[in-house]
Amino acid sequence: MGAGALRSVGSRLSALGSGRRTALVSDRSVMALYGPAVTESLRAAGFAVTEVLVPEGETAKTLAVAERCWDECLAAGLDRTSTLLALGGGAVGDLAGFVAATYMRGIPFVQLPTTLVAQVDAAIGGKVAIDHPRAKNLIGAFHQPRVVVVDPSVLLTLPEAEFRSGLAEVVKHGIVLDAAYFDDVALHVPEILSRDLPTLERIIAGSCRLKGRIVEADEREGGPRAALNYGHTVGHALEAATSFSKWLHGEAVSLGIVAAARIAEQLGLAAPDTGARQVKLLKAIGLPVAFSAPAPEVIVRAIASDKKARDGKVPFVLAPRIGEFRLVFDIPADLIAQVLGEIQRAAA
Ligand SMILES: NC(=O)c1ccc[n+]([C@@H]2O[C@H](COP(=O)([O-])OP(=O)(O)OC[C@H]3O[C@@H](n4cnc5c(N)ncnc54)[C@H](O)[C@@H]3O)[C@@H](O)[C@H]2O)c1
Ligand SMILES: [Zn+2]
Repeated sequence: MGAGALRSVGSRLSALGSGRRTALVSDRSVMALYGPAVTESLRAAGFAVTEVLVPEGETAKTLAVAERCWDECLAAGLDRTSTLLALGGGAVGDLAGFVAATYMRGIPFVQLPTTLVAQVDAAIGGKVAIDHPRAKNLIGAFHQPRVVVVDPSVLLTLPEAEFRSGLAEVVKHGIVLDAAYFDDVALHVPEILSRDLPTLERIIAGSCRLKGRIVEADEREGGPRAALNYGHTVGHALEAATSFSKWLHGEAVSLGIVAAARIAEQLGLAAPDTGARQVKLLKAIGLPVAFSAPAPEVIVRAIASDKKARDGKVPFVLAPRIGEFRLVFDIPADLIAQVLGEIQRAAA
């Protein structure tokens, strides 16, 4: 991790004793911006590089694109010792990771995340996937990257909305895992929003450490990894109920955090001020904390069809206080609808 870290990719791969052939997967815009630095670094270290271009954003996460990547890996002569590198946002990382997990039953893979979402979340933890026409991330695997190289300076070219959206995951990490980290973020919002590099480096490293710790303890999400779904139960439902067109992922998560905070309050689970501090920070960052549609019943129905539902019940992550989480099953649908209704009335 560090500004300029992308230029160290070649020497890091050498140190791992990787095979000489590599494929660098990216989309056209990111490849144009940061491909040359990575390619030069790899070639200088003696690696052969084949560039594989994929469509931008979610449209990369299809079986057809994966198939084309397998074809290009084969044509480039990649074998089991070769490395596939993902340069881009979470979409490129998820797709390239899926290709690496399946090509020849799995080849080494490196994450070079270029969005904030990818740097603090998607590139860490080994979840890789493509989408099914009926559900996101339905076809996938756990395939850990050999290395994750995080260069915060690439965030300077990221569009504002994408950057803020990534901060929702940063806030989430603080709320459920670490009160001191939450305070650090809350105290430095202006530096974060102006993308001051030393601040970004500290905040991103903090998130990577927190997520890394959870994933090491619970790689396959049988226990504490579920904490990372904070704000995501309602968030995913909002995205699904609006066909992923109304909010960026982090914006929907921000609203999901507001809902989870209120549910915890309604259940009498939250220490005083816990909810208010979450809403205050999300607001300061410029993330949405209120919305007016879709109707609560529509959202509750979308929650029931969540991929994480077990026997029709979705576990909710709640925060009893900043820095702590608790999994709660059996939250009545009526209570969820009531809280969503309150948020909507407050917005009106
Ligand atoms: N595997 C996981 O654990 C995990 C976690 C979170 C999200 N995800 C997945 O990540 C995806 C979302 O990722 P995302 O938010 O990074 O968005 P994204 O990958 O869709 O990228 C968004 C856009 O940003 C552009 N971009 C990327 N880096 C840039 C840069 N440095 N400068 C300018 N433009 C840049 C891309 O070209 C693209 O158009 C979703 O598919 C989601 O399912 C996966
Ligand atoms: Zn998320």
